[in-house]
Parts: sequence; C-alpha cells; structure tokens
Amino acid sequence: MFDRPLNLKDSSETAMHDESRQGEALIIERPKQYTGRKLYIESYGCAMNFADSEIVASLMLDMGFETTAQYKEADVIFINTCSIRDNAEQRVRNRLREFSAAKKKRPGMTIGVLGCMAERLKSKFLEEEKLVDIVIGPDSYRDLPNLLSQADEGIRAVNVLLSREETYADISPVRLNSNGISAFVSIMRGCDNMCSFCVVPFTRGRERSRDPESIVREAKELFEEGYREVTLLGQNVDSYKWEDRLNFAGLLQLVAQIDPLLRVRFSTSHPKDITDEVLHTMNKYDNICNHIHLPVQSGNSRVLELMNRTYTREWYIERIDTIRRLIPDCSISTDVIIGFCTETEEEHQDTLSMMDYVKYDFAYMYTYSERPGTLAAKRFEDDIPEDVKTRRFNEILKMQQACSLNRLEQHIGKTHRVLIDGFSKKSDKDLAGKTEHNITVVFPANGNNKPGDYVNVEIVRCTPATLIGQIIN
Ligand code: SAM
Ligand code: SF4
Ligand code: F3S
Repeated sequence: MFDRPLNLKDSSETAMHDESRQGEALIIERPKQYTGRKLYIESYGCAMNFADSEIVASLMLDMGFETTAQYKEADVIFINTCSIRDNAEQRVRNRLREFSAAKKKRPGMTIGVLGCMAERLKSKFLEEEKLVDIVIGPDSYRDLPNLLSQADEGIRAVNVLLSREETYADISPVRLNSNGISAFVSIMRGCDNMCSFCVVPFTRGRERSRDPESIVREAKELFEEGYREVTLLGQNVDSYKWEDRLNFAGLLQLVAQIDPLLRVRFSTSHPKDITDEVLHTMNKYDNICNHIHLPVQSGNSRVLELMNRTYTREWYIERIDTIRRLIPDCSISTDVIIGFCTETEEEHQDTLSMMDYVKYDFAYMYTYSERPGTLAAKRFEDDIPEDVKTRRFNEILKMQQACSLNRLEQHIGKTHRVLIDGFSKKSDKDLAGKTEHNITVVFPANGNNKPGDYVNVEIVRCTPATLIGQIIN
C-alpha cells in the first residue's frame, strides 16, 4: 500500500532523449493513450508480487498513466493479490468491497485484479465480484493495453495465460514506495516444486530463470542511481540456471562483483537445493550479506514427506550445521507451518525441538490453511481442529520470541557495519539501518551521515525486534 505520492521515473521520457542523442531530425513520441489518467496500485503477498507491481507500474507509465496514492481519485485501481492462505484472499475481498463503493461514485473507474488470486480464480472472479472489470494473471501483464481498451469499451476482460518463457527481463521496474536504498530484483519466476500445501505452482506456473545480463544490468543501474542493496528474488533461488552455464552461485558472484558498496541479499533458499558452493561464494564476498532464509516448514520427517518437501529432519540439520561451520556469523530465518494434516502432538514437539536446535534469528509462522486444488487438499483431510492449531501456534511463537530476543542480546557490545536506510520511525533525530544479518539498528544521527552511507555502530542495548546503538569512528 502506498501512503505517499510516488516519485516515478517516466521511461518514455528517457527513450525520447535517447532518440534525440542519435541526432534524429524528427523526435517520435510513442502515443500515450492514457495521458493524465491516474493509476492506484496496491499489493499483497510476497516480495515477488511487490516486484511485479513495479513492472506493472512501468508498463502503465509507458501508456501515459500517472500514479496516485488516493484510490478514490484514481481512474484505474489495480489490486495485486496473494492466494497463499485463505486469510490473504479474504483481505483482498474486503478491500475490493471498498473499491467497489468508490466505483459506484465514479462510474468511469476501472478495477483490475492482478496476481495470484486472479490466476487461481480466473473468470470466476468476474462472476463473484460484479464490479471487477479486468482479471489478469502474473504472466500476462504485457497484455494490459489490450485489456484496458476492452474495459474502456465496457467489455470485462480476462487474461490468465501462464507462460514458460516470460520473465519481463527487458522491462525496467518503476520503484514504488522506495527508500531509494534497497530494491528487489527478480531473478526467476514460477516454481517446479510441488509442496503439497502450496498454491504457488498453480498461480505462478513453471519455473524459469531470467537472463543474467539483464539481472546484472538492472542491479548496476540501481547502484548508479544510489541504491546500495539488492535482494535477488525467486521462490527457490538455488535452482536458478541459465543455459547450463550459470548457476545461482555464479549469478551471486556476478552481482557481488558490481561494486563492494552494493550489498547483495537473496530469498528464498530451499533446504533441498542450497549448495556449499553458494555458502563459499557468500564467504568470498564481504558484500554478500550473511543471512539465509531457509524455510523448514516442519521438524518432523513424516510430516515433511506428506508436505512433499523432499528432505528429512536429518538433512535439514546437516544443512544448518554446514552453514554454521562455513559461515559462523550467519543469521538464519525460517518459515513454519503449524497443524498440517495429521500432525500429531509428538510431531509438533519435533518442530519445537528443531527451533530450539537451530535458534533462528527470525521466523514467519503460519497455521495450515487448506488451498483448493493443491495436492494436500486432494489427498489429506485438514483434520487438526482450529483450537489445537492455535495452541500449537502459540507454543511455537513463544519459543521463537524468546529465541529472537536471545539472538538480539548476543549483539550487545559488538560493532556492526550498518547501511543507513532512513530515519527511525519514532524520532527523526535517530537514523535507522540494517546489519548484514538483516537486523534493524537505531542510533542517534550525528549530522554527518545520511541514508545510503555505511557506518560502524556499537550496539548498546536492544528491544524485542531492534538493536539500539551509537556510531563509532
Ligand atoms: N518458496 C518458498 C519455500 O519453498 O519455502 C516459500 C514460498 S511461500 C510464498 C511462503 C511461505 O508460506 C511458505 O514457506 C510456507 O511456510 C507458507 N505457506 C505456503 N502455503 C501455505 C498454506 N497452505 N498454509 C499455511 N502456510 C503456507
Ligand atoms: Fe511453494 Fe514449495 Fe514452491 Fe516454495 S518451493 S513456492 S513452498 S511449492
Ligand atoms: Fe502469494 Fe503468489 Fe507470492 S500466492 S506469496 S503472491 S507467489
């Protein structure tokens, strides 16, 4: 969601200057059918969905749209949706109700549903939500001009074709709601794993990797514009592969070599695929951040098998031990699903004991939500009662909260290199930034430093989620 007007680069403007540089007598401007019309775009779900919204914004600006932070004054409202859990979809439906009310007052308005929920529900969306005009899946954004002109003619339009090739490699994303310091760079799309609980393979289609040249070019341009951190995004970055000649470790190295001042992060790693080569590459480059997000989902091998995660508890522990051995100062975070089909009390205890073993710096914890069409929905009964799921969730949450605090306390007395990314939310006398472990640090501004600078900060204390420190020379 955007809470302030967006500062957007007009890409057709750049194209125009390029043409004039070539000495053409005649400057040909692309027709901008929608000049002066306003777009409001709101995004839900994972970082990849937010990155997609930046591609959509780029395509829309090319058509002449400008963006607004006020949906009530928009000509087009786009909601980029997530289907991962039922509550994610409910949130979107509630929001659509508010947009529909706005459309009744402004009948010329077009409402478009984008992303995973559009892909999952397809034309059913138009039947269920009467005021939606456009339904567009994640691989069809290039078809926006066509769909918008159909909507202008009063035709409700759908394009949910999935592609085996589309990576939007040539489109320069318009950075939305950016702090100007950190940006996401998509390196692949889709997912070929079939985790039984997961809707993503159905909403995002087959896995495909993006041309490395376009990835490096985008990261370089970001650096030249003043960005100091890129996060390489994919559902399973370790299976990145370009024409059998470049794997993820190779790509990581290419991006790390752009400039030592550009921090590189990546997400998400799959425990079955993360290689020692990636860990060695992380060690080789100081600017690759020592942080790995390694979703465990469950600490029990039988449950992992039902989830079709294709690794066991022992395999996962071996990967953790190897990370700790090769990169002792690596922070590790995870995702956990609580109350998956048939999970027993002992199996839940196995997840708790796994968390106790790994001592995650951070965890995203979810109760299992059955998703229509997934393997688990077809094969297993969602048989853990809600009150049991909630109780198990609270046990896991309590353990993780204690662990996160304990991990933060271990930083007290240490000095960390912090990339400043803005001011503290509580006071503009304090700056805020991140350590390479992805921990937020707040410290008094000294008048000499600004967002984008690196400073050494001595950690003096912590709150449950933040380190507090002071700059040292
Ligand atoms: N690709 C990543 C991986 O393999 O770990 C994660 C992708 S998913 C967008 C993010 C997280 O949502 C998953 O790791 C999982 O913990 C959670 N998740 C996915 N499906 C779920 C479901 N049906 N119910 C509850 N949580 C779910
Ligand atoms: Fe979903 Fe599994 Fe793919 Fe992650 S790896 S997106 S959890 S199917
Ligand atoms: Fe949600 Fe789709 Fe991402 S289901 S988590 S927005 S890939």
